[in-house]
Amino acid sequence: MMIRLAERADLPAINAIYNHYVLHSTCTLDEDLMSEAERDAWFELHRGSYPATVGVIDNEVVAWASLSKYRSRCAYRFTVENSVYVREDRQRRGIGGAMLADLIERAKELDVHSIVAGIEAGQEGSIVLHEQHGFVTTAHLREVGFKFRQWLDVVFMQRMM
Ligand SMILES: CC(C)(COP(=O)(O)OP(=O)(O)OC[C@H]1O[C@@H](n2cnc3c(N)ncnc32)[C@H](O)[C@@H]1OP(=O)(O)O)[C@@H](O)C(=O)NCCC(=O)NCCS
Repeated sequence: MMIRLAERADLPAINAIYNHYVLHSTCTLDEDLMSEAERDAWFELHRGSYPATVGVIDNEVVAWASLSKYRSRCAYRFTVENSVYVREDRQRRGIGGAMLADLIERAKELDVHSIVAGIEAGQEGSIVLHEQHGFVTTAHLREVGFKFRQWLDVVFMQRMM
């Protein structure tokens, strides 16, 4: 797999990977499909100091990952939030791990002090994956989400750089 910065032409594939999980999983607390325009706006925020990457196999985008602003207030500027999404038919082949490892290397170059991952508490695979890459759970919020007619806890994991 080749991992590179995302380009505008990758946005439909990125959105298709993401929107599958919007419809079928609590790994994202989005309930509405992300539109093309929303994905464009996301891309504009991820083509400078906050990177978005794609994993490509045989010219096909099979995963994406990003570092995003954690919060808008200035003093949070050394903290970022990460995302990693692997196409549903390509899970458990080491792709998510490779995407996350690459993201951490990019964070090292960007003067990041801490990476935060907000993960729905039932996403055991995602929690284990982040643990394998040096994240530890630093907060557990009770029933802050409500999707598919159930209350959802969210854990915050952090990797200090
Ligand atoms: C979480 C996710 C990124 C993992 O990607 P992946 O390519 O399947 O993960 P990998 O193959 O690199 O797995 C690495 C390790 O993580 C753990 N892991 C991953 N998925 C797991 C699962 N469903 N259950 C238990 N452990 C899991 C395992 O220890 C695995 O190693 P192993 O396969 O040798 O046992 C992927 O399942 C995904 O895109 N899920 C939906 C989106 C999401 O939850 N993203 C994270 C929130 S930001």
